[in-house]
Formats: sequence, C-alpha cells, structure tokens
Amino acid sequence: MDTLYGQLAATLRAGIDTGVYRTGDRMPGVRVLAAQRSTSIATAVMAYRQLEREGYLEARERSGFYVRGRMAHAPEPGLSAPAFRPAPVSGQELVLRLVKAANDPQVVQLGAAVPAPEFLPIRAVERALVEASRRHRTRAMNYAFPPGDPELRRLIARRMGEIGCTLHPDEIVITGGCQEAITLALRAVTQPGDAVAIESPSYYGLLQVIDSLGLEALEIPTHPREGLSLDALELALERWPVKACVAIPNFSNPLGYRMPDANRLRLLDLLRRSGVPLIEDDVYGDLGFDTQRPRPCKSLNPKAGADVLYCASFSKTLAPGLRVGWIAPGRHLERIEYLKFVGNLAVASVPQIAVAQLLASGQYDRYLRGVRGQYAAAVERMTAAVIRHFPDGIRVTRPEGGFVIWVELPAGTDSLLLARRALEAGVSIAPGPLFSATRKYRNFIRLSCACVWDARVERALAALARLL
Ligand SMILES: Cc1ncc(COP(=O)(O)O)c(C=O)c1O
Repeated sequence: MDTLYGQLAATLRAGIDTGVYRTGDRMPGVRVLAAQRSTSIATAVMAYRQLEREGYLEARERSGFYVRGRMAHAPEPGLSAPAFRPAPVSGQELVLRLVKAANDPQVVQLGAAVPAPEFLPIRAVERALVEASRRHRTRAMNYAFPPGDPELRRLIARRMGEIGCTLHPDEIVITGGCQEAITLALRAVTQPGDAVAIESPSYYGLLQVIDSLGLEALEIPTHPREGLSLDALELALERWPVKACVAIPNFSNPLGYRMPDANRLRLLDLLRRSGVPLIEDDVYGDLGFDTQRPRPCKSLNPKAGADVLYCASFSKTLAPGLRVGWIAPGRHLERIEYLKFVGNLAVASVPQIAVAQLLASGQYDRYLRGVRGQYAAAVERMTAAVIRHFPDGIRVTRPEGGFVIWVELPAGTDSLLLARRALEAGVSIAPGPLFSATRKYRNFIRLSCACVWDARVERALAALARLL
C-alpha cells in the first residue's frame, strides 16, 4: 500500500500532468496544502520533496515549490514480466563483442554505464595516485592481503556508519570493484546448479557472473518505481529452492528506482524467513538526485543484516579503472576472505591508498555534492532529447539516481538489430535482451546519460530515431 505522502504526491503529479498546475505555477504553501487535503504539514512537505526528486517541482528558497518547466515526460514502462522460472543465462557473449566494438573513440558511447571522464574527479584521482606511490612507498609496493588496506577499511567503515551500518573495519574486505564483490558473494553462498533470484531486467554483469558460476537465474518481475515485486518473490521462494537473492535497491541498473523503505523491510523479512541471503549491490548508492543518501538494506534490520552481503565500489564515483570495491559480508566474512585470497591474493595497493586519501581529505564528499545535480540534469536532458527524437508511444523510466535510462520502444522493434545498425552508424547502445537471462526485452534499450552533451549526441539520437 502506498504511503500517505505517496498518495498525495500521486494526486499532485496527476494535476501537473493534466495541466491543472502549469509550468512556473507556484504550488500552494505546505500549510495550505495540508489544510486543503486534511493531512499533516510533514506529509505535505514529503509529497513536495518526492515531486522535487522526480523533477516535477523545484524548491525556491523562502518562496515555496514551483512547477518545473522543460521536464519532458513519457509514460513509464510497467511491471516487467519475465519467464519466472530458474533458467541458465544465454546470449551474454554478445556483450563482450559490443563492448569491444564500442571502444572506438569515434563511436558515441551511449551503451556502457561508464561515466565520461568529465563527470569524474580525474585530476584529484591522478594526484592521489601519484602521492600514494611517492609518500607511502613501502605500503604501496607490498601486498595488501585480504581483508585489504587497513586505512581504507577504516574510512569505509566510518562512511558506512554514517549511513546506518555500524561495522568494524575488519568486517570489510576490499575487492577488485563491485563485480568481484558480487562474484565472491555468490561463490560463498551457492553451489553450481543453484537458483538465484534477481531483478528483471538486471545488470548484465550479474547475469555473466551467474553464468560463469554455473548458476540459474530466477528473474523476478520488477517495477520501475519500486523494484522487485515482493509478492512475486514470495511466491518464488515458496516454489523453488532459491539459494540467494541479488538486488540493487538504490538506483538500480537499468531501472534507476529507489526501493521504498517499507519494501526493503519486507524484502529482508521474506528472505530471513526463507533463510536466503541477500546480496545487496549498492554501487550507485552515493549517486541519488536527492541530497539524503538512502540507507542500505543491511542497516535496516540488525538481525537480518548479518545475512546481507553488501557490495559496492568507487567505479562510478572516482574512476572505474581504479578497481577498488568492497564487500561487507556479515556472517560470511571468513569464507569471503578465503575466497578473495585464493582467487588473486590481493587488490593492487596504490589505488587503495589513493582512495583512502580521497576519502580522508573530504575530496570525495565535495565531489559527490556537485555531481549528483549534474547527473540529474544529464538524465533530464537525455530524456527530453529521446522524447523529442523518438517516435510517439515510447516509454521511459524516471530514475531517482545514477545515470541510465531504460527505454521501451514500439512493440516489434528488434533492439539487437538496432544496436548492430547503430554501431555501424557510430553509436553504441545497450539492447534490452542483454538484461535478461532468457533474452527478453527485445524492444527495450538502455542509454547512458553520463556523456558530454554536444551536437554529436543530438545527431546520434537522430540517427537512432531514423533506424527505428
Ligand atoms: C549495478 C552494477 N553493479 C556492479 C557493477 C560493476 O562495478 P565495478 O566496475 O566496480 O566492478 C556495475 C557496473 O556497471 C553495475 O552497474
């Protein structure tokens, strides 16, 4: 059931969509709104904040909330309808082919979920890397055996404490990015042949890990606003011997939603009752458009939290090439440390020291404060351009963080063919079937919005529209 503020936001959203409130209109003050709707001022404020996050309203200091102009809206895709039975992953070889082909600097990169360097604090990272190798020579040249560099783990533990996860630094293991964290997590809690419940559509890197470990993916219907359908998950847990569940509750890739807190609690409860561990991928958690950083599932219920393997990295916020991520695996710590050790001994030391420095100096937080707004604007600009160029009838997600959008094209469109033709025309996109174990979402594409906006991007979208 929706919250009171959610219901109020929905009513106001409908008012804006139908033109009752028009661009530039000042919305009623929160006290007036609360009185009009017989609700509390807190509910009115939360409803306005929700609409602000969605891009419908903007708050002007000491003046109130105004209807935003420019924000183009297309309808959102509905609840997904995957095969809903465990299945081996197929067709992922295509990803590597697309990634390689798209590496060409002449290609307009709208396919990979990798921010253009202009969105990253490249200069600060460069300086930190140089300093790490010069000033900490002994530490930098040695192995940083699992669990990893102590200073980095201390600073990560501090950050996690600030978002509600109280952890000792020794409960954190540094990994080679989030991808390795997820791989270790799945290896720790599953055996080949096991079924893993995942969101659908889901990040293709996850499907590849599932494939490489000989697991089966159980794709759960997922809503572009709320995430995993918990009713469907409950049914799946009753019907199949699911051994793990992987979710991206903060700004999932590709849907971009932020799972409501009530759903997070129910998810934890469902999994705990079935004895199924949650692998929580929070790689986009710091990139919400709202200033309030959402709390991870792991922090919401101390008992269930022990069976949450929390995975994240600095790939989307500092630089993907650093390959620094981490896992807070709860009661699976010993197994994870062992698997990390036998897998590749350690993560490179220099990037770990550099990241620690960026965290300690406050540069990381300063960077985050600026970039969230840039991503919100980039998503808005890409959405507006897609709506402008593409044919009527498309549907587009409205992410609350991150930098990708998921676009539903007219029924019958073959996005695999579109991706191939687009690449010939110098544009890379990610076709929908890559996001499903059974190659569903044929008429969907994912676009990355974290590109420098110029005439090339406009031309690329126009070219895609012509191919459609
Ligand atoms: C949801 C999600 N998880 C994990 C990863 C992999 O992160 P990393 O580069 O840190 O391994 C990505 C990268 O695209 C991602 O989108």
